[in-house]
Amino acid sequence: MRKIIIAGNWKMNKTFRETEEFLLDLTDFLDEVELNNIEVIICPPALYLEMATDIAFENKLFIGSQNISVHEFGAFTGEISGSMLKSMDVEFCIIGHSERRKYFNETNKMINTKLMILQRNKIIPIVCIGETLEEREMGITKKIITSQLEEVFKDIKINGNVVIAYEPIWAIGTGKTATPQQAQEIHKFIRKWLTDNYSKSIAENLPILYGGSAKPQNIKSLLEQPDIDGGLIGGASLDIEEFSEMIEITAKN
Ligand code: PGA
Repeated sequence: MRKIIIAGNWKMNKTFRETEEFLLDLTDFLDEVELNNIEVIICPPALYLEMATDIAFENKLFIGSQNISVHEFGAFTGEISGSMLKSMDVEFCIIGHSERRKYFNETNKMINTKLMILQRNKIIPIVCIGETLEEREMGITKKIITSQLEEVFKDIKINGNVVIAYEPIWAIGTGKTATPQQAQEIHKFIRKWLTDNYSKSIAENLPILYGGSAKPQNIKSLLEQPDIDGGLIGGASLDIEEFSEMIEITAKN
């Protein structure tokens, strides 16, 4: 059975104190709830990763980074390397987020390099892919998804520890969620690509998350789709009530 993942991507939000308070409340909540097959991940700003992994230690919470450098070490002011993340016990890392692609000019080739570095450091990548509104309206969503997959996974062996997040860019932070059917169609397409390019067992075991305005009101109908294995949640992960509610709904699903 595939793992179900609820991951919060906080982006550039929250102070040190707010982070600490949220994570303490969240770990208290996770102690009380029957999680079944679910993994809960928080990706806070990098500055708080050490505090976050300390709080998550011995708790039912996993911590992820929002980014990693394409370089392994050296004179790259402001960058954070894979070995730095590993040395703070970070277990997951988001790569290929559309905001990194758009505002920081990240390419599929760079995301491919980041994926390799994460695998070398034994950190589980959460690989984001997704089309723009214009691409959807032009009817080329599957073509875009295929080229993202081909370039990001070039020369990559999947050893079981990879997560993919389908995030239609037009749904991120816009309040416009893809319908469960729209999301399912692309999730199924991604799984088929994995079957064709890797193997049926890799495709069957790899969690594919949906991201883009997921919230307590729509998470259930998304999770009911056979190929949607959880969510990568931005806005709604910043509020402890909303995020806990989404975990509760997922655990009951
Ligand atoms: P959102 O963000 O839930 O606020 O739309 C999702 C994401 O960017 O991962």
